[in-house]
Amino acid sequence: MTLALLLFPALSFSFVTRFSSSSLHASSKELSYTSTTCLSSSSATSSSSDGNSRRDFFRNVAIGTTITTGIVGNGFAVQGPDPYIPTALDNQVILITGANTGLGLESAKRLAAAGATLVLTARSETKCQQAIEDVLLYIKEQQKQNPSLSSLNPTIYAVPLDLCNFQSIRNFPKLLENILPSGRKIDVLLNNAGVMAIPTREVTIDQYERTFQTNHLGPFALTSVLFPFMNVSTKTNNKARIVNVSSMAYVAGVAFTKEGLDLNNLNGQVSYDPWDAYGKSKLENILFTKELQRRVDEKNIPLEIVALHPGAVRTDLARYLMDEKDFVPMTELDAKVNSLDAWKRLSLLPLYYFTKSVERGASCQIWLSARQGENVSGKFYQNCKEVNLLPAAMDMDKAQKLWDMSEKMSGFQFNI
Ligand SMILES: NC(=O)c1ccc[n+]([C@@H]2O[C@H](COP(=O)([O-])OP(=O)(O)OC[C@H]3O[C@@H](n4cnc5c(N)ncnc54)[C@H](OP(=O)(O)O)[C@@H]3O)[C@@H](O)[C@H]2O)c1
Repeated sequence: MTLALLLFPALSFSFVTRFSSSSLHASSKELSYTSTTCLSSSSATSSSSDGNSRRDFFRNVAIGTTITTGIVGNGFAVQGPDPYIPTALDNQVILITGANTGLGLESAKRLAAAGATLVLTARSETKCQQAIEDVLLYIKEQQKQNPSLSSLNPTIYAVPLDLCNFQSIRNFPKLLENILPSGRKIDVLLNNAGVMAIPTREVTIDQYERTFQTNHLGPFALTSVLFPFMNVSTKTNNKARIVNVSSMAYVAGVAFTKEGLDLNNLNGQVSYDPWDAYGKSKLENILFTKELQRRVDEKNIPLEIVALHPGAVRTDLARYLMDEKDFVPMTELDAKVNSLDAWKRLSLLPLYYFTKSVERGASCQIWLSARQGENVSGKFYQNCKEVNLLPAAMDMDKAQKLWDMSEKMSGFQFNI
């Protein structure tokens, strides 16, 4: 990553130099043409050619500078701000779904290092155990680097959960009651788990298209069963939060329709396209955020619901885009990249340049889970800043209809 950022200015510089010299070459051709056809005014021509080439030179420098600034500026925009490090979360209980890898695991590490009590979910006992070990290992490393953390001893629970199985969601509250000390409630629910662009339409045990259930219907059902566990006491100053990890890819869910979310094809039953399914599910995350916020506000329940886009992040999310044999898990990426020859490594630069490290990518959801930001209710964030949404993502009529359909399809209802 550092290599990519260090190399990039050098690459863009060589690109600019090449760009400029080829333009200069073109001007010298024009110059020779002029000198053979207008012999009588050679001195005037040569001074105007000098002027032209000087102008060309400055124009090329200006273009080169603009391109370089744009590319480097875009690089910073892609990267976002420096990783956010939360502090003083000792009294917080934070539940993170999909916490065994990618953004979920990174969030778990940094929130635990800030003292939060964590409830992690993963799809199996083995993945749960591994997630706890990874977080504890991270904390040990942090303690080595920072002696002031030596007394840190966060409590971390992990509970198996499969969002593609409603029975697993139904069982979840009982498992939670068994681990959480009585009276302890959830301060922050981070709905992070998700899948992206599954190549062909797959159907879950509950008979729903897998992207739809993992990314929307499952989190909808889970949030409904966790609702009574949220710490919505009016006595505390801090409101409890539900943080929904959506994506800018929501735009893909409405790219080909003026009407916004297509409620007649939620389940991919009419047609299925991997990116359309992903885009729609991420749009549903935003509409769900807004409708839940509207409902809790109506009842004066002190709860903030917020959605976000983490950026394009180098996680395992792309695992569905390629054959299993070609897929390299994030944890093995560095070793794999280092085993490539220099040219192949260089060809990966755009991948590095246009994506965020997981440390940066997880920052916005960690920031929101640490209850940073003011008046975040019902809003959409990127790089820890609010961003405007397309009208389709603010369509409250669709949001209500999606809610009603989600209740019917999942069989789960909110007790608000
Ligand atoms: N990475 C990006 O560029 C990017 C961009 C925009 C938004 N996002 C969003 O960020 C969130 C996290 O993604 P990531 O990038 O960290 O991807 P990731 O590394 O693939 O992690 C996804 C997590 O979701 C879990 N999961 C998948 N299906 C599940 C199910 N049926 N039940 C419960 N958990 C399930 C996975 O568990 P297993 O390991 O068992 O599969 C894994 O823990 C997703 O909601 C994604 O849409 C990511």
